[in-house]
Amino acid sequence: MLGTGLVGMAMLGTGSLGIDTLAPALPLTQSALAATGVPVGAAVMIEDFRLDPRLREALLRYCDVLVPMNDLKWEALRHDRDGFDYSGADEVIAFARRHGKGLRGHTLVWNDGLPAWARAIVSRAEAEREFNRHIETVVSRFKGIIPVWDVVNEVIAHEPTPGRPLRDSIWLRHLGPGYIETAFRLAAAADPKARLVINDYDLENPDARTAQRRREIIAIIRQLKDKGIPIHGVGLQAHLYAERAVDVDGLQRFIAELLRMDMTVTITELDVIDWRLPADPATRDAAVAKLVSTFLNAVLAVCSPAGIVTWGLTDKSSWISETFKRPDGLPARPLPLDAAYRPKPFMNLLQNARRGRA
Ligand code: XIL
Repeated sequence: MLGTGLVGMAMLGTGSLGIDTLAPALPLTQSALAATGVPVGAAVMIEDFRLDPRLREALLRYCDVLVPMNDLKWEALRHDRDGFDYSGADEVIAFARRHGKGLRGHTLVWNDGLPAWARAIVSRAEAEREFNRHIETVVSRFKGIIPVWDVVNEVIAHEPTPGRPLRDSIWLRHLGPGYIETAFRLAAAADPKARLVINDYDLENPDARTAQRRREIIAIIRQLKDKGIPIHGVGLQAHLYAERAVDVDGLQRFIAELLRMDMTVTITELDVIDWRLPADPATRDAAVAKLVSTFLNAVLAVCSPAGIVTWGLTDKSSWISETFKRPDGLPARPLPLDAAYRPKPFMNLLQNARRGRA
């Protein structure tokens, strides 16, 4: 479903950005990894994409699949209530198609990334009208072009309780918990062939909150399936915290349950929050790669993911730098390429997964 196979692999061997310049690979013990490898990709920030030819070159070299980072969110598509502005998304999509790269759509329903007029919606009727129109219009516009959608994003409460499993959001407030199934129903009606995903964060940490979040995802999938509403996969955002361990056992049990429910698993927003790591770049990059290696090994040991997407490609530009600022003020190093586009050990792991070998 994701990507177009191992596009561009021939470019990988040598050259200034070649992976042969990397430190030795950390082992990937991918027992279940398909011999053909996993499609690898990155989210694309439109401003960087427009301004920096090195980014475009790196996307071609390292990626099978591209994701417009912000340009399919309401904020970008719907500056005003009536129009739909596809200009940013179309640029990335045209580039992807021209170069045979796969695409993911992110995201139809989120409590964040909304324009002011949508945040100010006051009535159920208005919410319903805009919500329905948005999903129908956007999914139809990209029918046959975007094969997979993050239909709902971050709908599980940060800390779910039995009485309050879902995040407080304008959609929950106005439409009630049924908005999730409505979103999937509308997306499926607009493009019956699209693969429909529920995407969320904090699904890999070793704590009770995470375990509860995983249970809520399972509960939603079960509800949708019981009602015959199409849902095809789960997106693990995987914004990994360097100071937290990966709950390998809990994550693998979760994935096993998802597979039993015929779900695909995609790693959708991989990066590492390095705010608590030591300053030294090499030490930091090694710690980041070690954590990513642990996480990918945990996933690859039990499934062959539909894709592995990082949330950006180079440390030059990442939301982590803004959202998780280091106390020492140093720039963050959350992604597979450094700020000068040199591949870090993190990249080596991705390209190994891409080629289906340890
Ligand atoms: C972030 C983008 O990276 C930023 O550029 C933007 O300002 C805010 O959104 N979880 C998600 C993503 O699902 O859409 C978010 O992306 C990061 C957290």
